[in-house]
Amino acid sequence: MEKQQLLYKGKAKSVYATTDADLLVMEYRDDTSAFNGQKLEQLERKGRVNNTFNSFIMGKLAAAGIASHFVRQLGPTEALVKRLQMIPVECVVRNFAAGSLCKRLGIEEGLALTPPTYELFLKNDGLGDPMINESHALSFGWATQAQLDRMRELSMQVNAVLRELFVAGGMLLVDFKLEFGVHHGEILLGDEFSPDGCRLWDKETRKKLDKDRFRQGLGGVVEAYEEVGARLGIQFDGA
Ligand code: TMP
Repeated sequence: MEKQQLLYKGKAKSVYATTDADLLVMEYRDDTSAFNGQKLEQLERKGRVNNTFNSFIMGKLAAAGIASHFVRQLGPTEALVKRLQMIPVECVVRNFAAGSLCKRLGIEEGLALTPPTYELFLKNDGLGDPMINESHALSFGWATQAQLDRMRELSMQVNAVLRELFVAGGMLLVDFKLEFGVHHGEILLGDEFSPDGCRLWDKETRKKLDKDRFRQGLGGVVEAYEEVGARLGIQFDGA
């Protein structure tokens, strides 16, 4: 298997074809964006930190029986993944109120959400990833009911596994976003799980340890990601 041409350059990752039609190489870059690409910076080490972080999380999910596109880490900033036909819908699970939920509904940040909320957003930068519901996804053909049901079920399973994992490291999994795709007819978890796409707070102090540090100009962004990793026992090679 050899890496071939660039297929797609996203805001933080690039995807390459390989000599195997079923496999892709995902490259994690240091590029960091927020507010739909309006705030852009390069944060040293972020690519390698997120790649290693994601490998660890996908391994934990696989051990819990949750299948993803992840095959193996190839190097500091690259991973081998299965080629998915991506579903253009982002699935967001929230255990505590933060971010757009607070703005949209006038809710105070930090309110515990029981049961967790589950929201869908259309993956469309031009439109600013608007919130949608299942009816939109069905009417516009973005996903079938069976796919939506499976995405919800898997999102809740991911929440159950990862909440426990982060609590054991003294952290609260506030919310997270997942993307799914189809692989030979089966829904698999795609994209990445890293502090770029979730919110994590210290359990006691509620210090933010995720991309909100970048969005809110709090500084120490990659250092916070590394702290999260260290609390989970992840070894970043530092190379
Ligand atoms: P939100 O509060 O901005 O709706 O985001 C909820 C969570 O989902 C937060 O952890 C960030 C993540 N997310 C992304 O990473 N990308 C997205 O496009 C969206 C809509 C959310």
